[in-house]
Amino acid sequence: MIKLKKITKVVKKMQKAPIIERIVDYLNTNPISCHTPGHKGGQFIPPPLNGKWPREVWQYDVTEIVNLDNLHYPTGCIKEAQNNIADLVNAKASYFLVNGTSVGIQAAILALAYNSPIFVPRNVHKSIYNAIVLANAEPIYLPIAFDENIGIPLGLEVEILKKYIKKHPQCKTIVITNPTYQGISYKIQEIVDLALANGFKIICDEAHGSHFFLHSELPPSALSLGAHIVVQSWHKTLPVLTQASILHLGHNYTGPDIAHYLNLLQTTSPSYLLMASLDSCQAFLRAEAKDILTLAVKKIRSYQERISLLDNLELYKTKNNLQMDPFKLCLSSPKVSGLELAKLLREKYQIYAEMAEENYCLLLLGIVINDMTMYKLEESLIDLNGYLDDLPKSYKPTTRDKILIPTAKMLLREAFFSTKEKVSLDSALGRICGDYIIKYPPGIPLLVPGEVIDESVLNILKKPGEGHKIEDHITVVQE
Ligand SMILES: Cc1ncc(COP(=O)(O)O)c(C=O)c1O
Repeated sequence: MIKLKKITKVVKKMQKAPIIERIVDYLNTNPISCHTPGHKGGQFIPPPLNGKWPREVWQYDVTEIVNLDNLHYPTGCIKEAQNNIADLVNAKASYFLVNGTSVGIQAAILALAYNSPIFVPRNVHKSIYNAIVLANAEPIYLPIAFDENIGIPLGLEVEILKKYIKKHPQCKTIVITNPTYQGISYKIQEIVDLALANGFKIICDEAHGSHFFLHSELPPSALSLGAHIVVQSWHKTLPVLTQASILHLGHNYTGPDIAHYLNLLQTTSPSYLLMASLDSCQAFLRAEAKDILTLAVKKIRSYQERISLLDNLELYKTKNNLQMDPFKLCLSSPKVSGLELAKLLREKYQIYAEMAEENYCLLLLGIVINDMTMYKLEESLIDLNGYLDDLPKSYKPTTRDKILIPTAKMLLREAFFSTKEKVSLDSALGRICGDYIIKYPPGIPLLVPGEVIDESVLNILKKPGEGHKIEDHITVVQE
């Protein structure tokens, strides 16, 4: 029997989820749906999915009818839910994104860098280059620090930013990434401080850092440091549906109305499944995040210590007190490549890595620790360590070149809209790139349109990757 004390505690902790409450009110009226979507609350489910998804999934897939508010001009439950999130993260305002962080980055760059220069560290995600194309912004690329032994991009150096500020005094907007795809929050405080001191508007791509504001043992969120716009893929690290992201404005934001740009870019049929998942996550985080994160960080730290004892597996550790997201494990082995490691994990233990590169594979853990999953993961790694013991071969990490700023012969936007053709890899040397050359994940382009295709890029393209085939053709600008 559940004790009364326990019930009181749970009830006290329950938080408001206004979108979910309004959907439930609607469903309680036993509605006859004479509105979109066409499945009519799951009255007809196409056979391949019939019985596969619970009926509630279809029922919750509602649309912007009366009492359910409007994403573009919110005055009701969507507004309340967004305000709850802003309050939770201490933002001036927060906005739902139903097309991932990509759409938030586009809105941010349109708002703050339209037709103007912007500093872009060279390890940014493809969505930032796309936003630059849309906004006709003038990217000034900044080289980044790189751990060459393992091939992990670290981030922007303070000294480099100082140098570029001096060289390009006309530039007053910067976009930064916190953390990197591998979870490294590189000197973020110093970078934000320096940019603020020089009057910059700061946009932070925090796609992988949505959980950072939840606990002091995690790296800091750029929002708390003073960034003006911070975009977070809640779907990447928090329990929400894929594509559900949030754009936050810092209290110091004084730019144009960001809703104007979001209305330009976002659908007029936002998914209530996505929005309800954000709403639900907000209520959960408000009630329980602190306790859950404290426990999760403690468990992960002790888990990492035990894994570090295994001879044939190595966990990447940052140097010089750089902060790293503990929920990301970059695993490598002196015996096999990262690609082989990911394959072994998948084939022997059904463990699916987030991504694998030549030298390491990346495992991403959830913020709510499932003890059984962690136990299985640990057992599997111990077993794998034993298996690797017997392997004669030893793996020599391929040292990757730094991410240099490639030579450009055309502006990004100009090349993006130019006429293109496809040529074989062998005849692409020296041609101007017509599309992003990218390995996905992590989605960081090696070359962007307008840049010259050189030997080092062709060599990377000829190597196999995890989960993507080797391209034999490449898009170039027609001569
Ligand atoms: C660093 C980074 N920024 C932005 C994005 C885009 O985020 P979303 O997939 O939510 O649009 C990604 C996606 O992988 C990413 O890794």
